[in-house]
Amino acid sequence: MERGLHRRIAIVGAGNVGTTYAYALLLSGLASEIVLIDANRAKAEGEAMDLNHAVPFAHPTRVWAGDYPDCAGSAITVLTAGAGQKPGETRLDLVRKNTAIWRQIVPELVRQNPTGMLLVATNPVDVLTHLALKLSGLSPPQVIGSGTILDTARFRYLLSEQFGVDARSVHAYIIGEHGDSEVPVWSLANIAGMRLPEFCKAQGLACDQEIMERIFARTRDAAYQIIERKGATFYAVAAGLMSITQAILRDQRSVLSVSSLITDYYGLSDVCFSLPTVVSGSGVERVLRLELSQDEVTKLKHSAELLRSTLHTIV
Ligand SMILES: NC(=O)c1ccc[n+]([C@@H]2O[C@H](COP(=O)([O-])OP(=O)(O)OC[C@H]3O[C@@H](n4cnc5c(N)ncnc54)[C@H](O)[C@@H]3O)[C@@H](O)[C@H]2O)c1
Repeated sequence: MERGLHRRIAIVGAGNVGTTYAYALLLSGLASEIVLIDANRAKAEGEAMDLNHAVPFAHPTRVWAGDYPDCAGSAITVLTAGAGQKPGETRLDLVRKNTAIWRQIVPELVRQNPTGMLLVATNPVDVLTHLALKLSGLSPPQVIGSGTILDTARFRYLLSEQFGVDARSVHAYIIGEHGDSEVPVWSLANIAGMRLPEFCKAQGLACDQEIMERIFARTRDAAYQIIERKGATFYAVAAGLMSITQAILRDQRSVLSVSSLITDYYGLSDVCFSLPTVVSGSGVERVLRLELSQDEVTKLKHSAELLRSTLHTIV
C-alpha cells in the first residue's frame, strides 16, 4: 500500500485506550484506514463492527480487525496492548508482563512495516518507549511515547479551574516520568506570559504553596483516583494520542510533552522521558531544552534515574 494515497493507522490493543482512540480517530476523519489488532480476535472484530456502523455519521473510513501483516504501510502504529496495574501488583510485575508482550510484538511490527512510526501508550510508557526503540531498530524520532501529555493536560485543567481561565490558555508542563516521579515545571508556568505568582498578584487570586502542592498532587494521583472509581482511564489519554497523531499527520510542529530518547540534557542521556517536544511529520523533530530551577533539575534527575534502573531490570 502506498503511503499518501491512504492514511492507515494500526492500533495494537483493542481495549479501553485503543478503542477510545480508534473512535476519536474515526470521528476526526484523519485516517482513511484503521486496523485493530488484539490477542483477543473476537474483541477486535466486535469493536471493528461497532466502529464501522459509525462511519455513516463520520467520514468514509475502512475499519477492520486484522493481524500484523495489516500494519504494512501504516503511517503510525499505536501500541495500547498489554496489562494495566491490578490491585496488589507491583510496578515491576507490570513491567515484566508488558516487556514480554513487547518482545513478541515489536519485532513483528517492524518486520511488516519497517518505516512507519511507533506511538506507545502502554504503561510503564517511558520504559516501553525505550524498549520499543531498542527492539525495533527504528531511529529515535520515529518512536514516541504518550509520556506526560496526559499529566500536562490534567495539570493545565486543574490550574485553569483554580485561576478561572480556559485550560488552553494555561501554559504549564509536567516533565519526566509518566508516573509517581513526574515533575511540575512551576518556574516556567504562565498565563498570558505572566508567571503564576505575578498573574495571581495582578488578579488578586490566592496562589500559595499549599494550593500549588495540592494541584500537583491531584495531577500526579489522578489515575489512582479514577481507577478507584471506574477501573480504568481512557478518554483523556485517547485525546492526547489524537493530538500526537494530528501533529504527525498534519506536520504541525506542535509542542507536546511526549516521551522520547533524551540526549545530553542536564547530564541525562540514553533514557526516555517527557519534555516539551516539537512533533511533526518526521515524529520527534526536536526536544525543547527548558531552563529549569535547581529544584526541578534535582527532581528530574531522580525521575530519570528511576526510569533507567527500571529499564536495567529488563534488558
Ligand atoms: N500512557 C497513558 O497515559 C495511559 C493512560 C491510560 C492507560 N494506559 C495504559 O494503556 C494500557 C492499556 O490499557 P487499557 O485500559 O486499554 O487495557 P485493556 O485491558 O482494556 O486493553 C488491553 C488490550 O490489550 C490486549 N492484549 C494483551 N496482550 C496482547 C498481545 N500480546 N497482543 C495484542 N493484544 C494484546 C488485550 O486483549 C486487551 O484487549 C495499559 O498498560 C494502561 O496502563 C496508559
